[in-house]
Amino acid sequence: MICGLQVAMLVGRLFFNFKSDIFIRFYKQNVKTMLSKNQARIFFLGGTILSFVIFLGLSWQTLSKEVPVRTHEENLTPQVVRGKHLWESNNCMGCHTILGEGAYYAPELTKVIERRGAPYVKVALMNKTPWAPRGRKMVAYGFSDAEADDLVAFLTWIGQTDLNGFPAKPKYPVRTNQ
Ligand code: HEC
Repeated sequence: MICGLQVAMLVGRLFFNFKSDIFIRFYKQNVKTMLSKNQARIFFLGGTILSFVIFLGLSWQTLSKEVPVRTHEENLTPQVVRGKHLWESNNCMGCHTILGEGAYYAPELTKVIERRGAPYVKVALMNKTPWAPRGRKMVAYGFSDAEADDLVAFLTWIGQTDLNGFPAKPKYPVRTNQ
């Protein structure tokens, strides 16, 4: 309202030399009720500090209460941790995504155990020739049985985290070649 009035006054002055008494009185009255510079500064600082405190509180709540429950922290066995290290050191994210993070060359793997089952995943990981039933090739890692089990444990754990419904269920049936 005040802003519109200011613009109207400015345009009026610029183009029509418009100096109606009523307008000026109204304008001055309203400007007086706005915040002083000092009040505006306090309002700004107070708002910033309050928002920051709320932000810290919510972050603390998420990290200490939500994450352990959603990720089922109690299921983080040494095997899962070993699988995570294999995941990191073999650059799986160079081609795949997990939790939506990574590259888009190969399938999303967050729910791969649910989608394909552990035996299928183990075969893909232990194969001595590039795994490519659908055309595009995966690195032939030729993992040992124990390493493949570690990776399956990691993928099983990540598949059971509560992700608010991510990834969305595919609209169309996934081709299984079975
Ligand atoms: C060079 C790129 C590349 C890298 C690196 C790679 N993959 Fe793959 N991966 C693929 C491709 C492409 C497919 C799909 C093959 C097909 O189905 O034809 C695949 C398929 C898979 C599948 C089966 C997915 C499905 O839905 O059918 C799993 C599980 C898998 N990869 C796990 C891994 C793991 C674990 C790593 C790291 C140790 C890894 N991949 C590294 C390219 C890669």
